[in-house]
Amino acid sequence: MDARIGRVALVALMLSGSACKRSEPSEGAKATEGGRHVIALLLPESKTARYESHDRPLFEGKVKALCPTCEVLYANADQDAARQQSQAEAALTNGAQVLVLDPVDSASASAIVARAKQSRIPVISYDRLVMNADVDYYISFDNEQVGQLQAQALVDKLMADGRKMGTLVAIHGSPTDNNARMFKAGAHPVLETSGYLLGAEYDTPDWSPDKAQQQMEQALTALGKKSLIGVYAANDGTAGGAIAAMKAAGISPLPPVTGQDAELAAIQRIVAGEQYMTVYKAIRPEAEAAAELAVTLARGQRPPPERLTGKVNNGRKDVASILLTPVAVTRDNVRDTVVADGFWKPEQICVGVYQQACATARLP
Ligand code: BGC
Repeated sequence: MDARIGRVALVALMLSGSACKRSEPSEGAKATEGGRHVIALLLPESKTARYESHDRPLFEGKVKALCPTCEVLYANADQDAARQQSQAEAALTNGAQVLVLDPVDSASASAIVARAKQSRIPVISYDRLVMNADVDYYISFDNEQVGQLQAQALVDKLMADGRKMGTLVAIHGSPTDNNARMFKAGAHPVLETSGYLLGAEYDTPDWSPDKAQQQMEQALTALGKKSLIGVYAANDGTAGGAIAAMKAAGISPLPPVTGQDAELAAIQRIVAGEQYMTVYKAIRPEAEAAAELAVTLARGQRPPPERLTGKVNNGRKDVASILLTPVAVTRDNVRDTVVADGFWKPEQICVGVYQQACATARLP
């Protein structure tokens, strides 16, 4: 009874994001009392909407459906790598038999993996790859393709609009996120060979929309408003920041802006013509694949090899991976992608000021 209270209190601490005391290694992969299975889901931040609106509920729902006796210990690190480390330690102390880890910092999270491996606990790298670490599995999208889709959509739109020359600004993601590096690697070759000038580019610490807004303000001061013809923004949060800065500077009409995640606010901006495109990454197959794999591992089983379709090298090993395919979304295909998939319903998109614009996207 006492132990249970202690455990609940510790979980409450984890959920509040507070640091937990370091403790002795947990029992490792041994079954917990009463045949329960414990899975930790550690997500990186909450300023980007996807984690709380999709990843977490879809993951938890799938675990529950597959394994009624499984328990998910959830923690969000709110962009703080040290906090994520404490959350991981707390999860291990609380008997987690698998870590599903979406790292704040793809490099320093190798310490979390090492700590889990000391206790013989498998680690699934979720969405972002932990570098130079002995992770067991990786589930994500083809992230270079994400960057390529964004940049190509921007360049194609500018050409279709008859833009012969002009300046682009690129707002990339967090320098500690390996995905941000991959989006950039996919986007750069397209932007560099486009014939347009890449006037300024920035990494955005923590993927923070506020910082993206400040960077866009700096770009406008440095380059002037006139030559700007397009903005490569690596996700919808940074796109929102860039758009806010351009609106505050009185830029109208807005140039095409890219994004990623198909966040509700971005889909509304796309419908209203404020953002040109986003990249839709269907989170259901990603979160559910992670849940399936986590349940299999928590039960001490091995996943069927045909489920793992690829390998990605993280500097230490070729990690068995599941890589999903991203899709570019503009106003023309909102209906056939995010709406057809049930990712957002027309009644969620077409509210208030967006009601009228929805007709142009063949919604509802
Ligand atoms: C994810 C994106 C997300 C970004 C910010 C990336 O690692 O793949 O979907 O927008 O992090 O959290």
